[in-house]
Amino acid sequence: MSLLNVRDLRVYYRISKGMVRAVDGVNLYMDKGDFLGLAGESGCGKTTLALSITRLLPDNAKIISGSILFDGVDLLKLREDELRENYRWKRISIVFQGAMNALNPVFRVGDQIVQAICTHENIGKKEAWERVERLFSLVGLSPERAKDYPHEFSGGMKQRAIIALALACNPDLIIADEPVTALDVIVQAQILELIRSLRDKLGLSMIIITHDLSVIADTCNKAAIMYAGKIVEFSDIVSLFKNPLHPYSQGLLANYPSIEEEAKSFEPIGGRPPDLLNPPSGCRFHPRCPYVMDVCRRVEPNLIDVGGGHLVACHRVMKS
Ligand SMILES: Nc1ncnc2c1ncn2[C@@H]1O[C@H](COP(=O)(O)OP(=O)(O)OP(=O)(O)O)[C@@H](O)[C@H]1O
Ligand SMILES: [Mg+2]
Repeated sequence: MSLLNVRDLRVYYRISKGMVRAVDGVNLYMDKGDFLGLAGESGCGKTTLALSITRLLPDNAKIISGSILFDGVDLLKLREDELRENYRWKRISIVFQGAMNALNPVFRVGDQIVQAICTHENIGKKEAWERVERLFSLVGLSPERAKDYPHEFSGGMKQRAIIALALACNPDLIIADEPVTALDVIVQAQILELIRSLRDKLGLSMIIITHDLSVIADTCNKAAIMYAGKIVEFSDIVSLFKNPLHPYSQGLLANYPSIEEEAKSFEPIGGRPPDLLNPPSGCRFHPRCPYVMDVCRRVEPNLIDVGGGHLVACHRVMKS
């Protein structure tokens, strides 16, 4: 049984002009131990997908359809109290996009993690504090720094503390939304090294959301490419980087510096992302696709396995 199995998920936002179709028929699965990279340009629905899995969506979001099976249980069918008591933070935790800037400046960093632990587990402050010190060591921070305030931390240290917070209740799955985006390249490399070491030490499963494919290449074994609310390609990392099939993935890879020779011939993607209030008919990528055919404008392509678990939603690939 897969650890996470998202089926036909649709999540729309209600705004005055209509419905923003942020996640629109997403299928995704991962096994225990997988590190799944989720990539796609700004506004394609990555954060909405992450917030749906933890059911922490804003008030104007509506789950239109679908299921999110976690260890066989449909998270969308659970009552809020069941989800809170047994799943959120304990089994699935999330590193929010921009979270390192959300540490409360008036509390010590360690106290903020202690508070999170005590909210979710029935343990005393002293025991929780000891756990924070252990977590700090695990994420490469000296335990005594737990007594410091956020302003005494560098960006990289804050991000380590946020990762410690995500690990605090020993979850099976961590969703990390743009965990290195705000950091300079050297600190980015250090945080990615930390993520790799946690993968090896803890047997975690993780979804890493990024617009940067090199982050995925560095840390993940599987990747999902998202475009305008849909997954357009899903595969193991080697297969995706060696043989990207969707024209959008090929365009993303064209911007990836250390790709192999053949990929260099791909054209970067021109045009603008579509309006999710009123997405294009057929394949959503068709207005920007260099290989567009008539069918692409009319019929939405399904995500289909073309062999060995490499899935793609593209009429042209299906024809060839
Ligand atoms: N609360 C909201 N109300 C209305 N529309 C929203 C809301 N939150 C997000 N959206 C819209 O939903 C779409 C998906 O947004 P989302 O934040 O999930 O994208 P993303 O892939 O995470 O982008 P980024 O890479 O910039 O973080 C976008 O069109 C966005 O403008
Ligand atoms: Mg986002």
